[in-house]
Parts: sequence; C-alpha cells; structure tokens
Amino acid sequence: CRVEYLNYEVLDDHGWDIDDEDLFEEAANGGLDREDYGQFWVRPRESLLEAAERHGFAWPFACRGGACANCAIIILEGEMRTRVDHVLPPEMLDKGFQLSCNGMPVSDELQVLYNVKHMPELEELLL
Ligand code: FES
Repeated sequence: CRVEYLNYEVLDDHGWDIDDEDLFEEAANGGLDREDYGQFWVRPRESLLEAAERHGFAWPFACRGGACANCAIIILEGEMRTRVDHVLPPEMLDKGFQLSCNGMPVSDELQVLYNVKHMPELEELLL
C-alpha cells in the first residue's frame, strides 16, 4: 500500500484546514520537509506505525497496544483496519480516526493525517 502522509501540526502554520478539499495537493506543493509530508510504502502485515519507523520517521506512540490513542491518525482516503482498539469511541471511528500502532492498510492507497493527538477530541482520551 502506498501511503501519502501529512503532519497535522503544520496545518495551522499554513492556514490549512482538515476539511479543505485540496489539502494534500496544497501540501504537495507547499515545500514541506519530508518529515511533514510525503509518501512511503507499507509492506504486507506491517502496521502503519512500523512502516513509518522503517522509513526513519518518529511518529507519536506510547503503548503500541491499542490502549492510549497517542498513535492516532485520520484516514482521509482509503481504508485501514485496526486489530486492537480499546480507546477510540465509535463516533471518532466514523470520522476516520484509527490507531497507527496496529492498523494495517487494506486499500492500495491511503491518505493520512498523522500527529492528530493534539486535536481537542483526542486530548481528552489520552492517558
Ligand atoms: Fe497506544 Fe497505539 S500507541 S494505541
């Protein structure tokens, strides 16, 4: 699966919003560091977090077991399945939130916003 990722923390700096239709296009042309925007491949049976780490990125995490939500991401395009999730309520799953520590892509392409643990919805859930 090919993943296109964007760091949630850069949105404010650029005046972008998560609901912008061309958010990823703007990010692609925004001159961002590779750490904040780019693409990588996830291997079969590899979690999204593992793949990010294999590519040298330090995405947030804590428990790695589906219990803390530090590793949360938002899927904007594509599909991912999280095996163990003890923390995200259904209404957040509906909005596209998932856990990268044990979530594995099931579509060929994925667009994700990572580092979303600073969103107000999530700060309440973080242990
Ligand atoms: Fe704790 Fe993923 S790192 S839920």
